Amino acid sequence: MTNNKGTYYITTPIYYPSANLHVGHTYCTVMADAMARFKRLSGYDVRFLTGTDEHGQKIQTLAESKGVTPQAYVDEVVDGIKKLWETMEISYDDFIRTTEERHISRVQKIFMKMYEKGDIYKGEYEGLYCTQCEAFWTESQLVNGNCPDCGRPVSKAKEEAYFFKLSEYSQKLLDLYEEKPEFLQPETRRNEMKAFIGQGLEDLCISRSTFDWGIPVPLDEKHVIYVWLDALTNYITALGYPDEPELYERYWPANVHLVGKEIVRFHSIIWPAMLMSADLPLPKQVLGHGWLLLGGEKVSKSKASKGTDVVDPVVLIERYGIDALKYFLLREYTFGQDGSFTNEVLLKRINFDLANDLGNLVSRTVTMIEKYCKGIVPQATTEDDIDRDLINIAIGAASKVEEEMDKFAFNMALEEIWTVVRRANKYIDEKEPWVLAKDENRKAELNTVMKNLAESLRIVSILIYPFMHSTSDKIRKQLGLWYADVVWEDSTVFHVMYEEKVKRGDALFPRLDIEKELGELTEVAAEIARKKAMKEVTDPVEKAILESVPLELKEEIVYEDFDKIDFRVGTILKAEKHPKADKLLVFQVKMGTEVRQVISGVADDFAPEEMVGRKVIVVANLKPRQLRGLESHGMLMFADNGDRCEMVTTTAPDGESVS
Ligand code: MSP
Repeated sequence: MTNNKGTYYITTPIYYPSANLHVGHTYCTVMADAMARFKRLSGYDVRFLTGTDEHGQKIQTLAESKGVTPQAYVDEVVDGIKKLWETMEISYDDFIRTTEERHISRVQKIFMKMYEKGDIYKGEYEGLYCTQCEAFWTESQLVNGNCPDCGRPVSKAKEEAYFFKLSEYSQKLLDLYEEKPEFLQPETRRNEMKAFIGQGLEDLCISRSTFDWGIPVPLDEKHVIYVWLDALTNYITALGYPDEPELYERYWPANVHLVGKEIVRFHSIIWPAMLMSADLPLPKQVLGHGWLLLGGEKVSKSKASKGTDVVDPVVLIERYGIDALKYFLLREYTFGQDGSFTNEVLLKRINFDLANDLGNLVSRTVTMIEKYCKGIVPQATTEDDIDRDLINIAIGAASKVEEEMDKFAFNMALEEIWTVVRRANKYIDEKEPWVLAKDENRKAELNTVMKNLAESLRIVSILIYPFMHSTSDKIRKQLGLWYADVVWEDSTVFHVMYEEKVKRGDALFPRLDIEKELGELTEVAAEIARKKAMKEVTDPVEKAILESVPLELKEEIVYEDFDKIDFRVGTILKAEKHPKADKLLVFQVKMGTEVRQVISGVADDFAPEEMVGRKVIVVANLKPRQLRGLESHGMLMFADNGDRCEMVTTTAPDGESVS
């Protein structure tokens, strides 16, 4: 394939490796991946960057609470993130970690460039400080007016810090939005930013000296560079800027930074101002997407464990497959808007769109070609209005998909593809090939129907390739197209196939029993919540309570049953083997004024002589019974600890009632 359309550089945010990612995070990465694959297929030289944002106080505190170094902590989480992207077949070209040497040294160079420009100065940062945690907090971060980490009161404090003269870039930023409205879409978001700038931009604090998990400020190692300057520069440090500029020169400025709506502000105000300060070109576009919501609130790492919906992408993929999850994320939500996530909508999408519409079309088509045409794709020699309608819809879809993808309207792009799928299913119903097959004279028509279905599916297999390439491959294999490369332009022409041998495969997306799945997912969600809670609990008692599993017991009794038992303290005066039973010991037990004979089956565990003088709890009002010719009146209490019996004992005086 030729990359004759130029370069295309797309990025995701770099994720905080504070905990494993949830389905909300995969949303952005799946969109970026689909766009990257789409652009590659359309002939662009694509660079797709993702990564992790690993510095900062939060990570440092988390690591300390787990008793590991911040580096060890992030290494483990980042490993999981990389595995997740591998599982999801995310086609990134580079994964940048802000703890990598290549990033650290380049951030310092960029810092110096801005410093030399006169845009960075040393000042005083004033904030709400928690002495215990050595941390500054903003008003909104406080919980009930106290430190969100330790709950102690905070006080106003000042510290020396470096500042970036963001305030001087207000007008330049407003000019940018005016001159290049495409930089920030949609207009409502642009207006929000304008209003924000209109309130007056303050200079940005870009260093901290109260913690050290960060990149040292060059010239002043007491300070570390504060998160956003460290994080945002990843988009160019990953391209080698400034010391190995080959990739930078090829791909910068980025075509699009895809980010969640809450961080649009950082990308459309701080980032361009930093680039202006460093005299570097600005990205062409910042696009903010909406959030996946769970019960009306953003799916988040802390809320991931609540409720009955599973948001762990690994679990969802294990159960339903990568392509089902990707399709769902891209099809269900409208770019830029929030959308609610439930397991039920996911399962319905899989059943309706994938199992019914697409899966059925593939299996019906291949089965019929096997049945009616000996498995060989025939040629079409007839054409009527219905055929033409199908053909026009199929070959017209690519340009519509392109149009929608230009707008990042992934859901509409897929809708266009499903228009072809649904039209083809309807075509089968209209043409009734099973009727044509009964009439020898209509063999040509039957062949046309089979050919048109195969060609339509071939087109669908190309169109879905950027979104679900494995499914595309499976369809192409079933159609006998395994030999041909997927070429985007081939989706705009119809009669391309010639005598391919089709072969039925497994169902692409097995139909799900939604009720059953939902029940199972609820159990999985509860189990995930339990495990997560357990991980966070350090108190051994709380941990034991969480790990507690109910015992298997005899039938429940009521208090009145229990109250009937008279427990007494007894002292064993004499113990001897039962003359007629090896397992039994015969005890003479004194309970206050009374001495009783009690027999117990503990001869395997106790020697008679070791029992004499010991105190024991006796069920004193048990009806007497004969055991091998001797009377036993009462029962001594022993506890079975698995290996052997333990006597239930006490230091209380004999005869005492036990309650
Ligand atoms: N590290 C910063 C980004 C720095 S970029 C230079 C950060 N990290 S994050 O891990 O908190 O979030 C990363 C992205 O995940 C954000 O774009 C955020 O919007 C997105 N999402 C987190 N939860 C989400 C949903 N529930 N739904 C959709 N996206 C969400 O911010």
